[in-house]
Amino acid sequence: MKSSRSSSWAIGGLVVFLAAGVLAQVPSSTPSTTSTAAVVPTQVPSSQPLPHNPVYPDTPRDNRTSPSFPDSEYVKLLDYSLRFYEAQRSGKLPPDQRVTWRKDSVLDDGKDVGLDLSGGYFDAGDYLKFTFPLTFAMTETCWGALEFWKGYELANQTRYLDQMVRWGMDWLIKAHPNNNTLFVQIGLDQIDNNYWGPDTNIPRPRPSFQVNNTHPGTDVTADAAAAFASCAMLYRDKFNDTAYSNTLQTHADSLFRLAETATPQQLYQAAVPAVACCYKSSSFLDDLAWGAAWMYKLTRQSVYAQKASQYIDRLNISNIKISAVSWDDKAGFVYVLMAGATAGTGDNSAKWQQMAEKYASFTTKASKPCLMTKGGLYYCTGDSGDDSAVVAANAAFILQIFASQLTAAAGGQSIDPSVQERIDSYRSFALGQVEYLLGDNPLKTPYVVGVHPNSPANPHSAPASGGTDVDNIDSSPEKMMYTIYGALVGGPDKNDRFSDIRSDWQQSEVALDYNAPFNGLMAYQVMTSEVAPPYVVIPAGRPDLPPILNGMEVWQIILIIVACIFVVIAIGAFVCYRKRDQIRAWANAKKEKKANDYSTAHPMKPTVNRNNNSNANTSNTNDNNQDQAVRSLAVPPPPPIRSNQQEQQQQQQQQQHRPVPPPPLPARGEPVLLENVHRS
Ligand SMILES: *[C@@H]1O[C@H](CO)[C@@H](O)[C@H](O)[C@H]1NC(C)=O
Ligand SMILES: *[C@@H]1O[C@H](CO)[C@@H](O)[C@H](O)[C@H]1NC(C)=O
Ligand SMILES: *[C@@H]1O[C@H](CO)[C@@H](O)[C@H](O)[C@H]1NC(C)=O
Ligand SMILES: *[C@@H]1O[C@H](CO)[C@@H](O)[C@H](O)[C@H]1NC(C)=O
Ligand SMILES: *[C@@H]1O[C@H](CO)[C@@H](O)[C@H](O)[C@H]1NC(C)=O
Ligand SMILES: *[C@@H]1O[C@H](CO)[C@@H](O)[C@H](O)[C@H]1NC(C)=O
Repeated sequence: MKSSRSSSWAIGGLVVFLAAGVLAQVPSSTPSTTSTAAVVPTQVPSSQPLPHNPVYPDTPRDNRTSPSFPDSEYVKLLDYSLRFYEAQRSGKLPPDQRVTWRKDSVLDDGKDVGLDLSGGYFDAGDYLKFTFPLTFAMTETCWGALEFWKGYELANQTRYLDQMVRWGMDWLIKAHPNNNTLFVQIGLDQIDNNYWGPDTNIPRPRPSFQVNNTHPGTDVTADAAAAFASCAMLYRDKFNDTAYSNTLQTHADSLFRLAETATPQQLYQAAVPAVACCYKSSSFLDDLAWGAAWMYKLTRQSVYAQKASQYIDRLNISNIKISAVSWDDKAGFVYVLMAGATAGTGDNSAKWQQMAEKYASFTTKASKPCLMTKGGLYYCTGDSGDDSAVVAANAAFILQIFASQLTAAAGGQSIDPSVQERIDSYRSFALGQVEYLLGDNPLKTPYVVGVHPNSPANPHSAPASGGTDVDNIDSSPEKMMYTIYGALVGGPDKNDRFSDIRSDWQQSEVALDYNAPFNGLMAYQVMTSEVAPPYVVIPAGRPDLPPILNGMEVWQIILIIVACIFVVIAIGAFVCYRKRDQIRAWANAKKEKKANDYSTAHPMKPTVNRNNNSNANTSNTNDNNQDQAVRSLAVPPPPPIRSNQQEQQQQQQQQQHRPVPPPPLPARGEPVLLENVHRS
């Protein structure tokens, strides 16, 4: 068995080798470790501002064949994604700022605590600054750049990557002014959310909130350590900037120590309740593991691997449902990071490999609480409602990295077919999500701003909207004043529908953590894709999709109702048929009993509709009409068998009475109606 498998694999390898030889004639699409000379200049005017409103080609392309390598659309997407972060800059803007509609803002941040906390990034479509999602976005971007560095090189984006990361890390350095303190929020939700307007008029006060050694925020502190450690690694290994890398590493050390030693270890909203509005943490163990994992990857000291392992064990993951990875839940990231970092070491690599495999296979299978929408979006109930595109992007990001690690682990040797199969399934999952987000979806909508006429037209961004009326953010102004290029918006709902209105923040908001996986995914696409993104062949205009009620299209609901009615009728008919003799006997018995009652005869009172009592104001005639109408629906016609002479006579005597109804068949009317029927 084994030998035949490996010999067939050897043949497969030969075929691949020959094919690779042929493909070598065309620009190589696979990441090559040696060919640094293959960097192809691109036409992207990276240093130029983009027009306030994008100009699109009149007609879509015929096909997705890429005219060059790297594909210029993916290069553009990576470029735009980094520009998005420029649009989010806070503080004093530099002369080479490309997003020129943004202005200097809130230079006095930190004054309340005697510090300069200006700079950094606004978190989302408003003007608050939050550390927790920022550190996650920085870590994810630096990780993606470490893994897919070549994509940034091919796209000529390393300089902008440097600017993007430095802008965030420089502020985090300010936010960590001493070993015991980390600032976690600038500005107040209650004040900021009452403002919708330009960056030049941001309301004050903007208080600065901190965690520290007496009021710890274990999660945010460990997360900041992860950001400093991962970006220190990027500056050390890729940018060759040792000085900056060392600075970052010093902060990482200090923050990780603070996270571990400050007591009590607690969620940061316990120290700073203000953050609960927006970025409440649900556990600090995943953050401690995440911080330890990055300290391990940076320093290679086994003690950190042991810590990461202990923290993950304390999470009792085996009892916990596998969930979406996000700024709040890094467990899935930790498995994959540690599986890669421990490979080939004595630091428990088998355990991490197993956890990462489990996580990846759960993700590709979209196991509960996650599912695939009809259109093919990875959607996790409980998480995706707030930002479905981001849940999908994070899942794609982590699987793309895991697949790359498995490929790299083979070190160029042939890969076991079963491993290759898994790699392929991870890659195809990731690519499927990327393509969905770039237009391969029922609405033919790329969820990235400014790349296609169907791109979101109304991202939830106060500065980009140009509006000043907080009560009418959807219509004032009618059209967004500026295009916030490259922003990945919250994304569609679980029926693949997208509202594209500014006030629907779940679907339309933009945020630092949204684009973080997108940075890495686009870098990977740049270095591997032989085809352009799906939107290049999509004509302008979203298709009209049928309306949705309760997760189903209207025609489906009608079909189900019709089917139910049919089934009920069929069952009723079947039961009546089977019991026909009993029913007849029973009806006859009843008739006889009634006949006997009549023989002691005194006339009955006319029907009283009980509804009249409660509806004193409604006219009697109406009620009676209704009553009879309902009755005529609820009561089947009397059976034609009327043999009893005595009964006929009695009926004549009491003409004003309705014929005696047969016994009610399987009850379908309301109890009140049945009661009325009996009483008549
Ligand atoms: C890369 O981008 C820089 C601007 O950032 C530009 O000056 C340079 O010419 C570009 N190089 C290539 C090869 O496109
Ligand atoms: C793809 O479309 C372009 C123009 O849209 C055309 O020039 C090219 O020949 C097409 N390539 C293929 C393989 O069809
Ligand atoms: C520590 O943080 C808490 C919570 O933010 C704050 O109330 C307190 O003033 C801080 N301590 C110092 C010494 O700044
Ligand atoms: C960093 O140094 C390595 C090794 O000397 C070199 O190959 C690489 O091009 C340098 N990277 C940058 C961004 O200068
Ligand atoms: C702050 O932490 C760093 C790194 O952990 C340490 O080297 C330094 O001595 C500490 N500084 C003070 C003032 O305690
Ligand atoms: C993990 O399980 C242990 C023992 O059952 C329990 O004490 C602990 O609270 C659990 N931890 C979490 C984070 O659920």
